[in-house]
Amino acid sequence: MKVFISGNIASIGLKQLEENNISFTQWNEDRQITAEELIEACKDVDGLVSVGPNKLNAEFLNACKHLKVIALHSVGFDQVDVGEAKKLGIKIGNTPGVLSAATADTAFLLMLAVSRKAFYLHKKIISGDWKNYEPTPELGIELNDKTLGVFGMGKIGSELAKKCVAAYGMKVIYHNRSRNEEAEKELEAKYVSFEELLAESDVLSVHTALTSETEGKFSAAVFKQMKPTAIFVNTARGAIHNEADLIEALKDGTIWGAGLDVTNPEPMDKDNPLLSMENVAVLPHIGSATVETRAAMAELIAENIVAGLKGDKLPHEVE
Ligand code: DGY
Repeated sequence: MKVFISGNIASIGLKQLEENNISFTQWNEDRQITAEELIEACKDVDGLVSVGPNKLNAEFLNACKHLKVIALHSVGFDQVDVGEAKKLGIKIGNTPGVLSAATADTAFLLMLAVSRKAFYLHKKIISGDWKNYEPTPELGIELNDKTLGVFGMGKIGSELAKKCVAAYGMKVIYHNRSRNEEAEKELEAKYVSFEELLAESDVLSVHTALTSETEGKFSAAVFKQMKPTAIFVNTARGAIHNEADLIEALKDGTIWGAGLDVTNPEPMDKDNPLLSMENVAVLPHIGSATVETRAAMAELIAENIVAGLKGDKLPHEVE
């Protein structure tokens, strides 16, 4: 049984594969593998560990005749044609749960950084533009007692809500496909309609999967329904917001600020106007990038590969 790994994963995962006598080859160039190179690398293997935004579409899945299992190095699975994989009998595994705390930390970091213009002010020091201490310009806004709106109250959204309640006594409202009773009980989170979420949130944080329903959901018309003092945070997928509309909304004061760990496209162009705006903080998709979380993800990946190669149900299977 052979496995291809399309990037770097934590060594504990590699060790687990070795302990299970699984031989693997690994992509080790300092760039994302191309679609053609991925097909070439996978056409004779039984398993793939997919690291990064590889498009695992019907063309790829049908070209790789021996694939039994794909273990994603992510909780999100928007990059896979899951229906086609099912038809072909290829099992798809992901890494749920273990990255919730780290990703919620990233959303929290962005929220706080935007509220105090931290990234912008940091750049000002670096460029030598910090001339003297001035009490009034470039003021931030406080988060105490404000309202956090969560779009997608799953594990990551709940983790963020917990942190915001503990740190700032924030009131939590959320919009979701279904009610989250645990969040309602533990955090006094209130379920609201999408329109209420937009109208009432001081910070609106996105934690849904990218689907045909959520793609482009945050557009000009949606930003217009938010408070002019609101902060928009997205640590889910860049395609959930319309980037041109977001830039306009920030420029004309429709909303106050934005914190993004995900952009569209990724990597983002270094001249993107978002990077020079005062009330914007952008990170390069590092939501789950901690030593602890990456190790936990690598362990789940190895478990998924081992089970998939044996023909067993994956412990963390995308259904
Ligand atoms: C995830 O786990 O989905 C992260 O965003 C990495 O893609």
